[in-house]
Amino acid sequence: MCGIVGCILKDKKAAPILLECVTKLEYRGYDSVGIATPDSEIHIKKDQGKIKDVNKKIGLSNLPGDMGIAHVRWATHGIPTKENSHPHTDCSGNIAVVHNGIIENYKEIKDALIEEGHVFKSETDTEVIPHLIEKFMAQGLDLESAIRDTLDMIHGSYAIAAMAAAEPGKIVGAKKDSPLIVGKGIDEYFVASDAPAILNHTNNIIYLEDGEMVILERSGVTVKNMLGEVIKKEIHVLDWTPEMAEKGGFDHFMIKEIHEQGESVRNTLMEAADIEKVVNELPDIERISFVACGTSYHASLIGKYLFESLMGVPTDVILASEFKYSAPALNDKTLVIFISQSGETADTLKALRLAKESAETLAIVNVLGSAATREAHHVIFTRAGPEIGVAATKTYVSQLTCIYILVSYMSNRMDLLEELHKVPQYMEDILADEDHIKEIASRYKDSQDFFFIGRGFSYPTALEGALKLKEITYIHGEGYAAGELKHGPLALIDDGVPVVAVVPPGISHDKTLSNVEEVRARGARVIGLGSHEDKLLKSEADDVIGINESVNELISPISYIVPLQLLSYYISVEKGIDPDKPKNLAKCVTVE
Ligand code: F6R
Repeated sequence: MCGIVGCILKDKKAAPILLECVTKLEYRGYDSVGIATPDSEIHIKKDQGKIKDVNKKIGLSNLPGDMGIAHVRWATHGIPTKENSHPHTDCSGNIAVVHNGIIENYKEIKDALIEEGHVFKSETDTEVIPHLIEKFMAQGLDLESAIRDTLDMIHGSYAIAAMAAAEPGKIVGAKKDSPLIVGKGIDEYFVASDAPAILNHTNNIIYLEDGEMVILERSGVTVKNMLGEVIKKEIHVLDWTPEMAEKGGFDHFMIKEIHEQGESVRNTLMEAADIEKVVNELPDIERISFVACGTSYHASLIGKYLFESLMGVPTDVILASEFKYSAPALNDKTLVIFISQSGETADTLKALRLAKESAETLAIVNVLGSAATREAHHVIFTRAGPEIGVAATKTYVSQLTCIYILVSYMSNRMDLLEELHKVPQYMEDILADEDHIKEIASRYKDSQDFFFIGRGFSYPTALEGALKLKEITYIHGEGYAAGELKHGPLALIDDGVPVVAVVPPGISHDKTLSNVEEVRARGARVIGLGSHEDKLLKSEADDVIGINESVNELISPISYIVPLQLLSYYISVEKGIDPDKPKNLAKCVTVE
């Protein structure tokens, strides 16, 4: 996830305004920033680092001209460096492009272009775009047609803004699977990753759809399809406040990130080919150990259930902080998988350094260039984009997606991979039921204790649901394997104690329902998560959150966590807590 902006202004310098706009997109990425403005040639200032530090160092707004493009980066291909920062240019430096998304087939294109004599300066996937545009413009096409031909060649997701010194006064934008909006002011025109970035300048917004292009010129904006035909678009007049704008219209980053989970799963699925490559590089493995903390530990538990049930590979899961006390006997037939959204968690890094001495290591990480990615033998990236809310949400579902892809390739279960592609839609269906979950939250918000129960694949979901509750509502929440209740915790179930039961269709369904009956008999109020069609659950639970009936037990963890995140989020809001910054917690824990 990166942020892009472009503008054509009237009688104003563009660079300071591009800097202001791109700063509003810092939630989309913060490892590098760059601006390009043209006069007779294209001028670029860019570097790695946070916007304010880079600006202090190189004076980003000190560029000539009344138009330009800008970018804030969240590295996906190539670590954060000046060379990998956007805008990227062609060989001559006369075409500049900013891009948000992932170009899946960039390697083949890059190899072919190098063969034809193009010289690349970065390790990014993006750089193929200006070189392709250069190639097509050299064949006589104008910028717009050259971009159309370029987009025909690339697979993956993109939102781009591009300009060429040969066509002054023009910026071309286009999108597929990444957001891009157009702002139409008075004699001033914008493109941006989202409307809040440009709200200080105009609130007249056009939302582009996939397969649409926009051409900004001094005379106005034109939207076209990929055949070059003009499309008439509606202009939306937004009435957002600046705070709403910063969070894309949501009240908190956490709820925004919960809503971004479908996109995170889709982006992570685009990583499948790279994950397959990692699988092909792995030596023969006889045993797997997962090592992680917190939410990443819960993702690891799902990994254990998957590897053991689908492949029969003995798998254990170790809390990173316990690794040095209880590490299993490691050898070169053991694969130790480290899961960490930040890649900087001290406990996880310590364990990684220990494990590396005797075993093969693989890190599943969201932050490119982080310590774990530099130190592990193999690396897989989750493509959740930056997560600002302290409580992990979209990084968790991306971690799960990676684990499912990994196990699909290792066990040759391509049906599982196919099933994963349906998950974003399941998530969207759950989000459509948000008001119902909000209403449940308001009825249960004063409870002192919650229990979360599930069996098999739903047990880690119960643990993660309880962790979310503790973190952001400060209510005591316990996650239990449903069958374990009767071995002790049942003593705590009294009149009115909420029990959240995770009961997807599958082999654990009937047994978990028996446990639901046990808690009901002791006065518990039951919130059931299960299939829309589950009549038995409906008859047992006080409240039911219904999920698409096709989501079976095996695939359920990625979707079933969404209602639990929403439940905690809305209880937190009802209690007047800031869910983005829970007390005593930090986004990245760099101490042991
Ligand atoms: C929970 C949460 C933490 C992290 C844990 C590990 O919402 O965010 O429990 O999961 O601190 O962090 P990473 O994944 O960065 O190693």
